[in-house]
Amino acid sequence: MAKEMTIDLSKITLRPYKISDADDFLMYGGDDKVTRFTRWNTFTSMEEALSYIKDYCIPHPYCRSICIADRSIGFIIIVPKSGGDRCRADVGYALAAAYWGQGIAARAVKMAIAQGLKEFPDVIRFQALVELENKASQRVLEKLGFLREGVLRKYSLNKGKSRDMVMYSLLSTDPIP
Ligand SMILES: CC(C)(COP(=O)(O)OP(=O)(O)OC[C@H]1O[C@@H](n2cnc3c(N)ncnc32)[C@H](O)[C@@H]1OP(=O)(O)O)[C@@H](O)C(=O)NCCC(=O)NCCS
Repeated sequence: MAKEMTIDLSKITLRPYKISDADDFLMYGGDDKVTRFTRWNTFTSMEEALSYIKDYCIPHPYCRSICIADRSIGFIIIVPKSGGDRCRADVGYALAAAYWGQGIAARAVKMAIAQGLKEFPDVIRFQALVELENKASQRVLEKLGFLREGVLRKYSLNKGKSRDMVMYSLLSTDPIP
């Protein structure tokens, strides 16, 4: 999809993935700039994109496509935990690089949290783990009032390298700006 000049944030929607999103998904899932900070390895084929959408995104309780005019420009996920951890959920997201820097991710995370609060009534804590180097993502969370709780040293492996991760949380009782 061609880059539009300025996106009207009220036109951003979140919806479940469809098989027909595979082309658009590959635009961001296949971009090293986008996958640098995600757990994904860069998708390299339509088949991989299709399988991921079919086998992971569609059956998932909350995996949504960030859309403009119903075309997928990004990915957002809420992963509620179970058992004694069912009070919390992980949040993750990624956006096609052509759309960075317009407030779209912040808008999408805000919308997803509002939906997550309704869909997962047990969840009172939304958390996100962000690589220390990923300043844009930290800023997204800080704009939404997530609390920076601390740095977890060498907490995760990404692309074969250990990473320091920043833990952020937002409680269901916290105000969202
Ligand atoms: C992180 C990501 C989702 C942000 O999307 P976005 O729509 O550009 O985010 P927003 O526009 O809502 O906010 C980005 C903020 O970061 C700021 N920012 C961008 N690059 C920055 C940098 N290098 N250092 C500091 N701040 C930075 C922007 O200025 C903006 O803040 P502002 O609104 O106060 O000006 C997008 O860059 C992305 O998809 N990255 C790759 C995948 C990823 O990192 N996912 C998150 C994993 S935890």
